Amino acid sequence: MLKPTIEAALNRQVNRELYSAYLYLAMSSYYDSINLAGFGQWLRVQAREELEHAMKIYDYIGDAGGRPVMEAIEAPQKDWNGAKVAFAEVLAHEQAVTGMINDLMDLAIKENDYATREFLGWFVTEQVEEEKNAGDILVQIEKFGDAAGPLFSLDRSLAARQ
Ligand SMILES: [Fe+2]
Ligand SMILES: [Fe+2]
Repeated sequence: MLKPTIEAALNRQVNRELYSAYLYLAMSSYYDSINLAGFGQWLRVQAREELEHAMKIYDYIGDAGGRPVMEAIEAPQKDWNGAKVAFAEVLAHEQAVTGMINDLMDLAIKENDYATREFLGWFVTEQVEEEKNAGDILVQIEKFGDAAGPLFSLDRSLAARQ
């Protein structure tokens, strides 16, 4: 059985992963609206990954004897001030999520919940990858500055993400 503190914290993380999906869909729509459909595609795929993260935690809560509880998902903003600003927010958001996963791990350690520690290990590793992916793309955007040509070629390469 999950301790109530752990169950509540995991449920909160389901909500935050769903919010991440929502945020990335909002960003996908934003990039589409500024004719950067490759960024839009990349974020659409990213949103799908966040839904998978939410479902992983949802399933674990049930498997471990708890009950997933759905709460309201915060609405993300609709527009950003350019390609670079929006992508800087992707990285900042992933860094914030890493902090949440670390807090969850701290709680599992404090509560001697070995199963949840093992479960969260996957997310600890995943966040390294998430920050790297977002950081690598942001570095490329920053390198190109505001030059339209290179930004469109980056957009074309991001369009390939399936
Ligand atoms: Fe996630
Ligand atoms: Fe993520």
